[in-house]
Amino acid sequence: MVKIGILGCGRIGQVHVRSIKALNNAQVVAVADAVPKAADTLAATASARVSTADEIIAAADVDAVVIGTPTDTHFDLIHQAAAAGKAIFCEKPIDMSVDNIRTCMKAVEEAGVTFMTGFNRRFDPNFGHLRARIAAGDIGAVELVSITSRDPAPPPVSYIERSGGLFRDMMIHDFDMARFLMGEDFVRLHAAGSNLVDPAIGQAGDVDTAAVILTTASGKICQISNSRRAAYGYDQRIEVHGQNGMLRAENQLETTVEYATSDGFRRAPAQHFFLERYGQAFEAEMASFVSAVTEGTSVTPGIQDGLQAQILADAASAALESGQPVELG
Ligand SMILES: NC(=O)c1ccc[n+]([C@@H]2O[C@H](COP(=O)([O-])OP(=O)(O)OC[C@H]3O[C@@H](n4cnc5c(N)ncnc54)[C@H](O)[C@@H]3O)[C@@H](O)[C@H]2O)c1
Repeated sequence: MVKIGILGCGRIGQVHVRSIKALNNAQVVAVADAVPKAADTLAATASARVSTADEIIAAADVDAVVIGTPTDTHFDLIHQAAAAGKAIFCEKPIDMSVDNIRTCMKAVEEAGVTFMTGFNRRFDPNFGHLRARIAAGDIGAVELVSITSRDPAPPPVSYIERSGGLFRDMMIHDFDMARFLMGEDFVRLHAAGSNLVDPAIGQAGDVDTAAVILTTASGKICQISNSRRAAYGYDQRIEVHGQNGMLRAENQLETTVEYATSDGFRRAPAQHFFLERYGQAFEAEMASFVSAVTEGTSVTPGIQDGLQAQILADAASAALESGQPVELG
């Protein structure tokens, strides 16, 4: 039984508690939050004690921590947890700075603890199936990958201001997916970004609409399309074009019922947002982390994956700012 401490009882902390409760080889023993009410509520749901982050990290009965606090707190918590020998599940992005992630990586490697980065989309059953078919050679060599990822509505500007920007906060998931599917390093990145959804996002210094093109050394291309708004729900699609065919993972809709009249065919909107769309993925992600802790095996996506996605996010920000493509080392 893996005993877990939850650091941060907000949106994502609650998701992870739900996933852990569904497992029979893991248990939440303690939760911590800067806001006592948030900790009390989640502790009641998890049948766990309320504690502080420091106490959880030091506790003898905690094997692993789930870091679901705001990104700017991850660096210190990772260092503390690694020094205490705890396995670490850390939400994306690990940190806003590539240098800080490298420092965390060193601490994690020196401590020899299990570390998973919260790129939940790798555990989506449809995306996993799509990748397995690429690996099986079903479409031959991959030539073009298109990743569409659009949120139903923008977050509050107060969130945008602390988010590190669209590339580090939102497209980071797509950068990881691009690496997951392409299986080849990217050597060049082009970026475009606009402020079309909410002028307040522009005033906060961010874009709300963006596209990136990534190219590998052999010329394979991945295009990513992001928007902070989609009138029809959370738009999450992937298409992979290869030498012998194409693989496509479509949106999951609120219902599969189709309504047809003489006016035509109507289908439901896409599932609203990440909690609905990636429910299964979050469960599979946590199950995978717990198995790695139990079996002492290495874990994917690890801290190196978090680092590589962040390098691409930084490159996209630089490309947008300069208006020039970025050559990736
Ligand atoms: N994988 C995903 O799809 C996904 C989705 C949402 C958020 N996230 C990531 O999860 C992290 C948290 O995001 P969220 O949306 O859950 O935020 P949130 O604001 O809903 O929750 C964060 C919680 O952490 C608490 N907190 C702040 N500082 C703390 C500290 N030092 N110790 C203990 N608790 C503290 C806050 O009071 C809050 O309750 C971010 O890094 C975010 O990028 C990932």
